[in-house]
Amino acid sequence: MLGGTPVVLAHGFPDSSDVWAPVARKLAERFHVIRYDVRGTGGSGAPGRGHRGYSMELLVDDLATVVREVAGRPVHLVGHDWGSIQGWAAVTARPELFLSFTSMSGPDLGHVSDWVRRNRWRPWKVFGVLQRSWYIAGFKVPVVPELVWPAVRERLHAGRREWVNGLGLYRANFGRRWRPAPVSTRVHQIELTQDPYVAHAHLEAAEPWVAELSRSVLHTGHWAQRTHPDQVARHIEDAIDNRKRKRLVVVTGAGSGIGRATAQAFADQGAEVIALDVDEASAEETAARTGGHAYRLDVTDRVATDRVAAEIKARHGVPDVVMANAGIGVAGPFLHTSEEDWRRVVDVNLWGVVHTLRAFAPQLVDRAEGGHLVVTASAAGYFPTAALSAYSTTKAAVLMLAQCLHAELRGHGIGVSAICPGIVHTNITTTFTFAGKSPAEQEERRRAATRAYRLRGFSPEKVAAEILEAVKEDRLVVPVTAEVKAAHLGNRVAPALVRAVGRLWRL
Ligand SMILES: NC(=O)c1ccc[n+]([C@@H]2O[C@H](COP(=O)([O-])OP(=O)(O)OC[C@H]3O[C@@H](n4cnc5c(N)ncnc54)[C@H](O)[C@@H]3O)[C@@H](O)[C@H]2O)c1
Repeated sequence: MLGGTPVVLAHGFPDSSDVWAPVARKLAERFHVIRYDVRGTGGSGAPGRGHRGYSMELLVDDLATVVREVAGRPVHLVGHDWGSIQGWAAVTARPELFLSFTSMSGPDLGHVSDWVRRNRWRPWKVFGVLQRSWYIAGFKVPVVPELVWPAVRERLHAGRREWVNGLGLYRANFGRRWRPAPVSTRVHQIELTQDPYVAHAHLEAAEPWVAELSRSVLHTGHWAQRTHPDQVARHIEDAIDNRKRKRLVVVTGAGSGIGRATAQAFADQGAEVIALDVDEASAEETAARTGGHAYRLDVTDRVATDRVAAEIKARHGVPDVVMANAGIGVAGPFLHTSEEDWRRVVDVNLWGVVHTLRAFAPQLVDRAEGGHLVVTASAAGYFPTAALSAYSTTKAAVLMLAQCLHAELRGHGIGVSAICPGIVHTNITTTFTFAGKSPAEQEERRRAATRAYRLRGFSPEKVAAEILEAVKEDRLVVPVTAEVKAAHLGNRVAPALVRAVGRLWRL
């Protein structure tokens, strides 16, 4: 018997156990990893009975023998492609051998037959799933698929032996009648969203049949263990531990107002929060309230933003949600707004957002597990007034940036939301710059603005609730208060009217 928890890695077609090597190296830090070459591949002998030697029953016997002879006790099983298909058959037939099963890109054939039968009156849905398996019909044709090997060997990393013998898997097992059966082993499915061979429905098919089923997502193609071994190893580890990681949420400008309220709302939902603010004490206060972590960050400083993002990754991991929220206000007519005022507001409200997203978005893309980017824009970004030319310009820019990112990052499973809050009672009115006014006039205007915002009575907590909803629903442009919803609609149906109202708003 082995020391250490045994994990068996079963490979698919047209691979050998080598395909698991990078993942096995990672898992070996904690587990006793067993990987074996399925019959007819790598160092294993070929059955020599034509394709009948690759029947599911024989594959399950082989796997059971590996568990019995090498591990000597129940194992955690991980299967990819045909390794997963035979894994389903094994956990159904021999549940006593398995502690858990992690399935990647290979459904149970009985569950899929049952899914097709249940959906027989929705032929377009069934067609959408089955058309991914067109090649299987081709594999059943004698001789021709054998000849195709030189054309696929590089793209599929396929050895000739693995390709030719592996065809036996299809010929021996497709075309048979497969009945679904309940599965008592705990199962985790890793969904690969860019897998051309396996659809979401193939995973759904298991739902009525597995008592304990969980799922996680990687935005990768079919051979995730080759392209993203670290991520695959982490998902397997979580599946074995039966653990769901907390969501990690990073918020800039989290020391006050909307940022703090959103950090709190995410924490209330069980997320781990990282509060960033140029005002370190206020970030620490948010961290203390949310049970999270605080870092001082001035988002206008690109080098510092990159450094803090790298530090967060190393200490806490890649965030699931990044909210580029830090912002300042500058009000007043264009003719009175100084170059210095312009630079300050552009530095924080535009460059700050760009720096934040440039530092974190690549982390999310590389991790390939999706995520969400939130930008705190403003209705000022689509509601032109005579009072906020500089501020509005920065907010229009980040509103557009968010929409461009939405287009660019969709394929990576990363959602983007641009929040347009409206008039919200926060500290922003106490720090607003009123262009061209004396210090005394500035103070007076700040007090008046604070009174007006207080009277409007919309709290940052209400904005935070909308933000959580927007992330959940993956909403792109999110006007929050009634007045900015009206302006948003007005822009579409009567833009001239919206502009006329905006002309009245002067300072
Ligand atoms: N309050 C509103 O009515 C309203 C309306 C529309 C949009 N917004 C936007 O919401 C966001 C949050 O504003 P708020 O109302 O919560 O204001 P707030 O002043 O209460 O909070 C802003 C936070 O950002 C921080 N910050 C400022 N400059 C920074 C920098 N360079 N680096 C890091 N942190 C910095 C501040 O220290 C503060 O903690 C801003 O982008 C603002 O433009 C607010």
